Amino acid sequence: MDAIVLLKDDHKTVEKLFKQFEKAGEDAYDEKRKLVDQMIEELTAHTYIEEKIFYPTVRAEAPEVSDHVLESIEEHHVVVWMLSELKDMDPRDERFDAKVSVLMENVRHHVEEEENEWFPEVRKAMGRNRLQELSDRMAEAKEKAPSQPLAVPSARQ
Ligand SMILES: [Fe+2]
Ligand SMILES: [Fe+2]
Repeated sequence: MDAIVLLKDDHKTVEKLFKQFEKAGEDAYDEKRKLVDQMIEELTAHTYIEEKIFYPTVRAEAPEVSDHVLESIEEHHVVVWMLSELKDMDPRDERFDAKVSVLMENVRHHVEEEENEWFPEVRKAMGRNRLQELSDRMAEAKEKAPSQPLAVPSARQ
């Protein structure tokens, strides 16, 4: 396991939830609520470990991708606020599906940039051993990650 593989596994988990949401019936309110609660949990822990460990380490050790990291933090900011709104929104609310849909668009765009535009540069700059060390710290931090989206640092920046 290395840090990038760990993050990509999270991305896959989230994408599966998105697909399930897209397949859920319009009136499947309980199922949609459950899926969105899982998205909140996964994405909160994921953005948290990226912001607490991965992003700062990358900025220090692969400064050439700093602009990508800064843009990513702004994207997280939008995502965690959307998550916090969805947390308290009734799935019967006429804005619920629209909000989830925009959340999914934002996250898919963000994941695509991480995986295709700059994670490969990070891999090149940091190397396998360093990324393996980092993944241990990230896995540990993930277990203690908050469940409240606004506890992710970018919410308040
Ligand atoms: Fe990510
Ligand atoms: Fe991210």
